[in-house]
Amino acid sequence: MSAAPSSASPRKLFVTTALPYANGAFHIGHIMEYIQADIWVRFMRMRGHEVHFVCADDAHGAPIMIAAEKAGVTPQEFVAQIAAGRKQYLDGFHIGFDNWHSTDGEENHQLSQDIYRRLRDQAKLITTRTIEQFYDPLKNMFLPDRYIKGECPKCGAKDQYGDSCEVCSAVYAPTELKNPYSTLTGAAPVMKSSEHYFFQLSDPKCGQFLRDWALDPSRLQPEVANKAREWLESDSGLGDWDISRDAPYFGIEIPDAPGKYFYVWLDAPIGYLASLKNYFNKTGRDFDAFMADPSTEQYHFIGKDITYFHTLFWPAMLHFAGLKVPNNVFVHGFITVSGEKMSKSRGTGISPLRYLDIGMNPEWLRYYIAAKLNARVEDVDFNPEDFIARVNSDLVGKYINIASRAAGFIAKKFDGKLAMDWATEPDAFLSALRAAGTDVAELYEAREYGKALRVVMEQADAVNAYVDANKPWELAKDPANNPRLQEVCSRLLEAFRILSIYLKPVLPALATQVEQLLNLTPMSWTDVNIAMPHQHAVNPYAHLMTRVEPAMLDKLFEPAAEAPVPSATQIEPLADEIKIDDFAKVDLRIAKIVDCEVVEGSDKLLRLTLDVGEGRMRNVFSGIKSAYQPEDLKGKLTVLVANLAPRKMKFGVSEGMVLAASAADEKAHPGLYVLEPWPGAEPGMRIR
Ligand code: 2FM
Ligand code: ZN
Repeated sequence: MSAAPSSASPRKLFVTTALPYANGAFHIGHIMEYIQADIWVRFMRMRGHEVHFVCADDAHGAPIMIAAEKAGVTPQEFVAQIAAGRKQYLDGFHIGFDNWHSTDGEENHQLSQDIYRRLRDQAKLITTRTIEQFYDPLKNMFLPDRYIKGECPKCGAKDQYGDSCEVCSAVYAPTELKNPYSTLTGAAPVMKSSEHYFFQLSDPKCGQFLRDWALDPSRLQPEVANKAREWLESDSGLGDWDISRDAPYFGIEIPDAPGKYFYVWLDAPIGYLASLKNYFNKTGRDFDAFMADPSTEQYHFIGKDITYFHTLFWPAMLHFAGLKVPNNVFVHGFITVSGEKMSKSRGTGISPLRYLDIGMNPEWLRYYIAAKLNARVEDVDFNPEDFIARVNSDLVGKYINIASRAAGFIAKKFDGKLAMDWATEPDAFLSALRAAGTDVAELYEAREYGKALRVVMEQADAVNAYVDANKPWELAKDPANNPRLQEVCSRLLEAFRILSIYLKPVLPALATQVEQLLNLTPMSWTDVNIAMPHQHAVNPYAHLMTRVEPAMLDKLFEPAAEAPVPSATQIEPLADEIKIDDFAKVDLRIAKIVDCEVVEGSDKLLRLTLDVGEGRMRNVFSGIKSAYQPEDLKGKLTVLVANLAPRKMKFGVSEGMVLAASAADEKAHPGLYVLEPWPGAEPGMRIR
């Protein structure tokens, strides 16, 4: 089967973005993915294809169940509250999903159970095994790894997660932690066994199918195919996938298995189908017929972190359930801000709502992101200076400039009428502009948006050269030039119309304004070749887009006013009582952070050079990289545990420990806060 049918006749497409977990608002990474997919969908529609574009909340799983419990509501209420907040973002950034549903919807319960039954009864790919796991005896539930902490088995550091140590970087299994505790209750977990259900990916027929599907050279992006090859050709082969979780769990019940639920990642992608089905039911379409039609194409836009699920589990589930498999999975990288990974906790990322609230134009962001996107799995960097330059010089300076130079004269001097009688003659200037449409279209379809916009801006440069060569403002000084002025301005508006078609997938709201200005019905791709008629009347020019003020970017990156305060029920249990003498054993000192740098090869650590008034500097490693950049800390005072035995680490010796506060469950409530004394404290002072 070919990955992308290339016929010129209308195609039927089913397109999705990844379903966001329903435990938080959208962040800028979600918005970037939605913009990428939305541009593609709008483009395909402009080409005349039938496109159904859906998404949904990913509602299930332990974290959402626990978050709902903390908030004192049912998981269903919790998810509904999150869902209610989605619209303002989607409308705000002109993301035109046809439907937004939930993986807890009835369609998903039914589809998931149906797919499971087919995998079990027809494909014979479901098996059970008894496995042992940590269990919280106070909460009476099995503990996902993220809710278990303890002491590192290698270096003894306290409060480490069950997968790796933030202090010495050791990697281990949760069962290897010393003195493990549940972050939900503080209780020591016990080992307990239970029966789990598995999807038997180790069956040779799964490997065979996946090699055919994933390694088809016309399908995945090269770097995604390489990853898939690594996974498929690893010595250990594909392992069976554990698809069940024991009650209590917020999820979909497994048929004929009381007390067992599908693991959230089983029913999440089925949510793509569920959302489409929900939409088709609402709009009177036939879901089964659409999905059974071999010519229907299915595409998923996703981030690189969930490639494994989408290139192995998902196609295998569909194929062995006898359903259509995706034509392709389009993988993108992450968004960084000025080269730094964004930190959700400290708001150093871009808050999409703040962006809208302070009056920034959503289409600036759409344009900027599109200009930086390509078809590879590369991270996209948001750089404020670059953002200002691209929007102001390219979008406003080159493109909008054309209309603002021409439209006013047509309205004022020619009663809004265009002189288009020249347009029947072959015209080198407009032919080149029209011919560029072929490249632009190919690049959009291939998701090479950055290249597409470069071609469009080159054409805009050529049109601006025509403006400069013909100087309408000079022509307007002498009424004898009126016929020439009318023709020059009409040509410019025709060029502007064509450029607007090219930019419409990226700038849909602006395109609507252009249609209004030029008095046109909604523009589609074939309109490129159909010039506006002679004497066509356009509307008076109203300004189409303003420039970005640099002050807006300052506002966008101002620290958020206040962070939510965790309620008392969320704090971790107090440690055992101590005497004042116990406390006195810990020598806490004020330290000045003289220098701070990132540690090559570590995701977690910063290296601090500290002055504790001893006449020498101390070298201290601290696992706070997720929350601070070196510049944030340099020159500040903080608190050091000064009499901690020096510890040899992979990157050097650490001579003490800097104090920082965090919530009991850092994964659910991220954020690390280094302590800073009140003004007046000096390096070396003891804290008593
Ligand atoms: O990683 C995530 O955010 C998941 N909620 C994505 C699910 S995509 C699909 F499988 F539903
Ligand atoms: Zn360790």
